[in-house]
Amino acid sequence: MRNVTVDNVTDVVIDSLGKHADIAPRQREIMESLIKHLHGFCKDVNLTHDEFLYACDYLGRAGALCSDKRQEFILLGDILGVEVLVDMLSNPISGDETVSTVLGPFFRENAPVMPKGASTVQKHFDGQETVYVEGYILDNKGNPIPGAIIDVWEDAPNGLYENHDPEQPDYNLRGRFESDAKGHYAFTAIRPVPYPIPGDETAGELIRYMGHHCMRPGHIHMMVTRDGYRPLISQIYDADSAHLDDDSVFAVKEDLIGKFEKAPEGAETDLVLRFDFTLADQAQAMAAE
Ligand code: BEZ
Ligand code: FE
Repeated sequence: MRNVTVDNVTDVVIDSLGKHADIAPRQREIMESLIKHLHGFCKDVNLTHDEFLYACDYLGRAGALCSDKRQEFILLGDILGVEVLVDMLSNPISGDETVSTVLGPFFRENAPVMPKGASTVQKHFDGQETVYVEGYILDNKGNPIPGAIIDVWEDAPNGLYENHDPEQPDYNLRGRFESDAKGHYAFTAIRPVPYPIPGDETAGELIRYMGHHCMRPGHIHMMVTRDGYRPLISQIYDADSAHLDDDSVFAVKEDLIGKFEKAPEGAETDLVLRFDFTLADQAQAMAAE
């Protein structure tokens, strides 16, 4: 096709799909929609060539930042509300299960496996408040789920995750715990503080361009897995934290807000947090998708 026009270029590009090699129906679906939306966006804003070149340079700079320590594209997706949207589309609620939210870029595989109640805290920070977190892992009929793995991670009182802070020990404030025969889990951690997502480099450039801010409310990440149940990636938010209503990545859900209460006299931690998780049955969840 020669001499494409503003009016026909979208159809011409869509027509080229699968012309010279077979493509799967899902590939076609994704590419057709991507081309339509991308062309629609360029037309909507009447994108200039300078802006197009700037975007190419920007994406190149974002890619160059990616390493095993930093996944810039997850961060950009979070700032644009894409990760929270994809999470809601991938994990529709089909019953009473606990709501999921974004994974974010700070998860690390292979956190230390710890006995029930153990502490993830390897380094003391002045002013930190310790918390005993406990609850039950349940199915959607309220029955306990023993043997579930609860993978937890959070930021330190300086607002940094351990893998972004050379002053913290490896895997500080991370751990994996298992629910017992009654479905009960427990671990000791610290009260998470609000923190800024990385606001330097291309993520910061995007936030500033949007006139938004970097802050997230205090939260503990928890990923709960057990064969036969839909994996749950979630976060528990501190009910008394700032930024619950203006999270930079739009990931706060009312049902994930927990109250950090003063611990009873004689307890080993300053605070206690009680939070139960209900897992969706894998087969039922797949049927609802
Ligand atoms: C986090 O909660 O760790 C997070 C989520 C999205 C972007 C940045 C951080
Ligand atoms: Fe986080």
